[in-house]
Amino acid sequence: MSTKKLKELRKWFVRRMAAVSDLHLMSRFAMCPPNFKTKEENPLMPNPGQLRLYEYYKQFCKICDEWEVDTVLLAGDLVHGQNAKERGQGLMTTKSNEQIQIAKDVLNPLIKGRSSHWVSGSGYHNSVPGMSIEEDICTHMKEKGFDANWYGTVANLEVKPFGKIINLSHGGGKAMYYRETISAREILYGKAAQVNEKLPKIDMYVHGHWHWFNYMHQANVHHLQLPCWMAYEPITLYTQAYTRYQPDIGGCLILFDSEGRITVWHFCYDLPHISDFVREI
Ligand SMILES: [Fe+2]
Ligand SMILES: [Fe+2]
Repeated sequence: MSTKKLKELRKWFVRRMAAVSDLHLMSRFAMCPPNFKTKEENPLMPNPGQLRLYEYYKQFCKICDEWEVDTVLLAGDLVHGQNAKERGQGLMTTKSNEQIQIAKDVLNPLIKGRSSHWVSGSGYHNSVPGMSIEEDICTHMKEKGFDANWYGTVANLEVKPFGKIINLSHGGGKAMYYRETISAREILYGKAAQVNEKLPKIDMYVHGHWHWFNYMHQANVHHLQLPCWMAYEPITLYTQAYTRYQPDIGGCLILFDSEGRITVWHFCYDLPHISDFVREI
């Protein structure tokens, strides 16, 4: 038994946000709820790994309820799209309408009763000629009475009542290995853009795309890379950096205390191996 004195520090959180990204719904390697049926009554059955990912997602939604999260940030890649280069391989369905329907079902418990703020994901996953699938999902939710707000590729969001600015985008860059360096550069150029009066002072960056949790807190700026809801996808592009492409699974809470200070809590879950599990020989 430790003899160290315990000290309880109290903090009051005025704003509580959830941030999620990269759901990649309808990939065979992403989370999927049970019991989804097409219009023709074809059941689209998830594999055990997909079910596990979905269970994690339900746990995260429960945490959001318990914490009375008021706002949800969605950083893109909600559905997996057409997988055109792979000619549809690795998908549960190529049909956009079905991908849109499942996204509406899955997002419903997370964004219900909260304001949600959406930016678009990778064009590869989320655009078919002349249409943005994610914008469509957001518009559907808005029409159903949800406070769902669509911003396109990037949004600078001012968090009331503190005036803190969050830069929300799906993210990008080609930093396969040393990704922290890219994040540091973004922070530096953000500061330069502010001094040159091109951008407001950005207090926090929130990005998806890399399927990787990383959080950097430097003087006056936070940089959050969000985890995802998809296991390793066995496509050729990823084989060359197999070890680096092992994703982080989960979501984050962004909490604003009574002084407007930002605290990030991450909720990361065990990684299921749907395609690359260990085989006995
Ligand atoms: Fe993604
Ligand atoms: Fe992406």
